[in-house]
Amino acid sequence: MVHGGRPLFGELEMPTAKNSILPILAAAVLTRGAVCIRRAPLLQDVETSMQLLAALGCPAVRAGQDLLLSCGGPVGDTVPRPLMAAMRSSIYYLAPMLARAGRARLSFPGGCRLGARPIDIHLEGLRAMGARVSAEGDQLECEAPDGLQGTRFHLRFPSVGATETLMMAAAAARGETVLTGVAREPEIRDLADFLNACGGKVRGAGTSRIIIRGGPLHGCEYTPIPDRITAQTVLCAGAICGGELLLRRTPFEPVRPLADFLAQAGCKVRRLDHDRVSLVSDGRLSALGELSTGVYPSFATDAGPLLAAAMLTADGTTRLRETIFTNRFACSTQFSKMGADLRCQGSVLEIRGVLALRGARMEASDLRGGAALVIAALAAEGESRIGGMEYIRRGYEDIGGMFGALGAVIGCRTQPEREHSTVRYGAICDRMIQE
Ligand code: EPU
Repeated sequence: MVHGGRPLFGELEMPTAKNSILPILAAAVLTRGAVCIRRAPLLQDVETSMQLLAALGCPAVRAGQDLLLSCGGPVGDTVPRPLMAAMRSSIYYLAPMLARAGRARLSFPGGCRLGARPIDIHLEGLRAMGARVSAEGDQLECEAPDGLQGTRFHLRFPSVGATETLMMAAAAARGETVLTGVAREPEIRDLADFLNACGGKVRGAGTSRIIIRGGPLHGCEYTPIPDRITAQTVLCAGAICGGELLLRRTPFEPVRPLADFLAQAGCKVRRLDHDRVSLVSDGRLSALGELSTGVYPSFATDAGPLLAAAMLTADGTTRLRETIFTNRFACSTQFSKMGADLRCQGSVLEIRGVLALRGARMEASDLRGGAALVIAALAAEGESRIGGMEYIRRGYEDIGGMFGALGAVIGCRTQPEREHSTVRYGAICDRMIQE
């Protein structure tokens, strides 16, 4: 529930990136030692990952803000179907299972309905490393009884997920793997940094060529990078609502494409130092004309719906082309309920700015589209109710609390329960840390 129409003022520290911690948790299955992930956010997808880890015999426990797990024992070879269906990131467990158990049985992953999300590049790369892969219906069986073998492999598209799958496979393979045409997102570099902290040998992450020498991995203590998409969510909200914001734990480079667009629209966005960004906006924005999303370092597909929300009341027309997913703008039908003027044709969302938005009842149908509805509701006059919070909770620990801290009037019916899991598992965590 959002009572909109107020400017946003204040400071926020960005949480850990969902898209970093999820592959890192899967990569922990490759290690034989205790892994401690610092500042683990309370996201639905992290909770699902913990269930998945438990199902594989690597139970993870929370200790305050940290997550502890140990994968020294035997690793299972089957992921239960509901856990595969619960999130896209379940596919990250394929390579670690193959490496540790010699085979993997799973169904195709679920996740946000952003259009077709095949995993052919993941599978092609694993085949090149010696895995036998067979698919029947939505059931997948992979085997590598003699282990994986280092290879040279070129990705026909710089898929983030496929790059991460193949990095994990290569870290456990015999010999050297050279991956070209890989994704360059900051989360890729973070996964490489994690693997290296575990004794891995990964070079080149962040460029389009990664070289990995396989070998045994030990446990480590690791803090993943902050969430650049959450930062962009807050910046877009500040831009349309008006106000003054300071974002801590926010390196500028990953948010630069959005910051440039917001500056062009009339906001003042500044890099204050290596991890602080400020935004000042009077809420009266100019439309941006033609723009498009792209792979990193271009403007992120995840930020597309967020910027679209910020443009709903901008003066003029913005045409935003999505180049990664076929159904990125499902939120546009919900924006219309607030009186927005837009048309979605194929991959292009055309937004003609209106003078004001009015509160409405809306339904989120994916994570970033859901966050975009919250942004628009914060700027709308009157009350909005947004359903489908289960999508938003996949990537935002407490979106109500986050915007509430900036002066928004916003409430969510249920709150995350960090205390509960901390108290219950505290003693086990202390023991694991000592060990
Ligand atoms: N693709 C293929 N074959 C593959 C893999 C991908 O054709 O084997 C295509 C997809 O269909 C899509 C494009 O490549 O059209 C990009 O997919 P990619 O694999 O790069 O995306 P992903 O790994 O599934 C991650 C993020 C997404 C983010 C995209 C793009 C995670 C957990 N998810 O997804 O984040 O939008 O990269 O940057 O890292 C989100 O956080 O809400 C989210 C959806």
